[in-house]
Amino acid sequence: MSGSILIVDDDKAHLSMLETIFSGWGYTATGAEDGADAIEEVRERSFDCVLMDVRMANIGGIEALQRIHEYNPSIPVIIMTAYSSVDVAVEAMKLGAYDYLTKPLNFDELRLVVERSLEHMSLAKENRSLKLKLSQDSRLGNIIGSSEVMLELTQMVETVAPTEATVLITGESGTGKELFARAIHDLSDRKDNELVTVNCAALTDTLLESELFGHEKGAFTGADKRREGRFMQANKGTIFLDEVGEVPMPMQAKLLRAIQEREIQRVGSDIPIHVDVRIIAATNRDLLDEVKEGKFREDLYYRLNVVNLTVPALVDRDGDVALLAKFFLDRFADKNRKKMKGFTPAAMNLLVKYPWPGNVRELENSIERAVILSVGDYITERDFPASIKDHFADVTDNPSMETMAGLSLDDIEKIAIIETLSTTKGNKSEAAKLLGITRTTLNNKIKKYEVEIEK
Ligand SMILES: Nc1ncnc2c1ncn2[C@@H]1O[C@H](COP(=O)(O)OP(=O)(O)OP(=O)(O)O)[C@@H](O)[C@H]1O
Ligand SMILES: [Mg+2]
Repeated sequence: MSGSILIVDDDKAHLSMLETIFSGWGYTATGAEDGADAIEEVRERSFDCVLMDVRMANIGGIEALQRIHEYNPSIPVIIMTAYSSVDVAVEAMKLGAYDYLTKPLNFDELRLVVERSLEHMSLAKENRSLKLKLSQDSRLGNIIGSSEVMLELTQMVETVAPTEATVLITGESGTGKELFARAIHDLSDRKDNELVTVNCAALTDTLLESELFGHEKGAFTGADKRREGRFMQANKGTIFLDEVGEVPMPMQAKLLRAIQEREIQRVGSDIPIHVDVRIIAATNRDLLDEVKEGKFREDLYYRLNVVNLTVPALVDRDGDVALLAKFFLDRFADKNRKKMKGFTPAAMNLLVKYPWPGNVRELENSIERAVILSVGDYITERDFPASIKDHFADVTDNPSMETMAGLSLDDIEKIAIIETLSTTKGNKSEAAKLLGITRTTLNNKIKKYEVEIEK
């Protein structure tokens, strides 16, 4: 970790000790001897974090905290207080302090809290820049994405939308095919007329025919009045044939005719009716495979696939997961009237590394669930469903500080030794140096913990 930290303490010896410690940890440390001094510093320079004593002559810590936040509301301020004045610490927290530490300081805790506050800062920054990006990237309404593949795709949508071309949208389940169908319609001259969606998978052969083309009164049992079909409803607009790969063979011939001639016949009638529709179809199947297997008509395939849009799987969209996650977070926070600030770094890490077999839909559902379950301002790993967490269960990642909580010191020592030995590829002298112990001590501990050394 590195960053610039302002340390405020009117005890000069304590101040210079803290400056030395933080410099040793790699921080740029600046000292201030009282609240007034600290306020001056914050006005003149930018810091990533402020560590401040509460009880100081001149301007005290509480007042300084408030004044510092007037200049820079997002800077984390960590308060140091004597154990006997914890109520002051609580007041400071209510006034927006990031955290508090009691004196005498525990250096491990000190380092941890400061590191966490810096992560918090960079996260807040990242969230802000994501927000900016979101507002810049949304030329296609609600289609979020700034990856190369998605930008190419949206460009293609903008090109084909105003034409009359039939479009076949392919892509895995949950990638946003329906969203693209809507975008094409909305960017076309037909936008003031209807976009009619038919889910071809939901209906059996005869029902699908009547759904698409309509029927005459008495055409079949239950047809007690004439009904217009979806093609007619889409007249002058667009019909979206979703899951077109599921259309049964006999229907495929009728569909082909409708598309070729722009003519339909109601079930129970042989009078052809002309319709003026733009056709968009979508499927998550490989239609060419279906053609080869004799399950999909080749002529229909070519009629539909005049322009092909392939919506990429979410794993193939570099950087889009973070963008989409933030977008969904805002949406569901609004919907659930929750104030959410973002994701913890660990949570974001999980989102970015998970392969998302269910694509955007799975991400959307996971975020909605997380927002509902979350208790704090930030979504944490704990808020994700088991399917995501389990994916990482067998990955032996470096144990983070958070996962160490609850382990015994012996366990932590053992983990440290194993990790260090694996970094040094089994070299014990090097490992001992890194661990700050002698080779003999290391050997004893290796025996004690029964550590097996892998080279
Ligand atoms: N780029 C995107 N930006 C914002 N939301 C998206 C994006 N892509 C997909 N979504 C959302 O994800 C969900 C799934 O999208 P959609 O229903 O369009 O997927 P699909 O490809 O039609 O899936 P299926 O094949 O299962 O029908 C929808 O709620 C949609 O709004
Ligand atoms: Mg769909």
